[in-house]
Amino acid sequence: MKKWYAVIGDPIAHSMSPFMHDLWFKEHGINATYIPIHAEPAKLEKAFQAMKTLGICGLNVTLPHKSSIIPFLDRLDETAVKMNAVNTVTFEGGKSVGWNTDGDGFVRSLAANPLPENPKILVIGAGGAARGIVFALKRAGFSDVSVANRTYRRAEELAHAAGCTAVTMKEAELALGQYNILIQTTSVGLAKDEGLPLSMEHAAAGSLAADIIYNPLETPFLKAAKEKGCTALNGVGMFVYQGAIAFEKWTGVEPDTEKMIGIITEKLG
Ligand code: ATR
Repeated sequence: MKKWYAVIGDPIAHSMSPFMHDLWFKEHGINATYIPIHAEPAKLEKAFQAMKTLGICGLNVTLPHKSSIIPFLDRLDETAVKMNAVNTVTFEGGKSVGWNTDGDGFVRSLAANPLPENPKILVIGAGGAARGIVFALKRAGFSDVSVANRTYRRAEELAHAAGCTAVTMKEAELALGQYNILIQTTSVGLAKDEGLPLSMEHAAAGSLAADIIYNPLETPFLKAAKEKGCTALNGVGMFVYQGAIAFEKWTGVEPDTEKMIGIITEKLG
């Protein structure tokens, strides 16, 4: 029988996940489909129970449900516990398990680039996205990680929880040239004509600047980084790899990520 998977969110029409997973199912000859499900917050519990009743095999969870889905799950993986957010649900023997593949997705997309040994990394932002990335970086063995945030207290809290260093935005701006990798995790750049989360004046040529935003493909942060001679990495890779990790958990198959990054980049370009 055909298996089915879904992504649940509000809004959901913009999601590229159905396109991506359906293409991977087709490429690997897996008899399955992946559908977008729109559910307002008040309807999340009923929607989730209905999906279980109808035999869903795997689920992605997107905004605004990443934390509110947690009470309805049977178990959480450590990745989801650390972030208090779930983006992937697997079903094992009828029990639902919540995971978070966002941080590991980012790290895989970063690791696909040539990196110096023991790079000095600056994470800009200390929200939910930054949290997943910082924990995943530490898990992957990156030891020199600093966090800068507009609200310094949040940078301190995250640095304390993850065992890394907090710096103020001003300190980060002045010392920007010392970092090999800059990771932009704030929402600045999502809206049109938005500025930068911090001044890029002192960024070093040859360093790698990564943004988790993938629409637009080039944020003001990446544009400014390129002007300084940095290599720019947009958020398409993170999006594709977070999906690939979920796909592997559901099917045991490792999908072609490089080709998918090309296809999605072209679609968004
Ligand atoms: P997410 O889960 O997407 O990371 P979030 O938890 O609301 O969302 O975090 C948003 C991040 O963007 C925070 O680091 C926030 O900084 P504050 O903690 O100071 O609010 C950052 N951010 C949002 N708008 C910003 C702006 N105009 N300048 C700098 N940082 C900004």
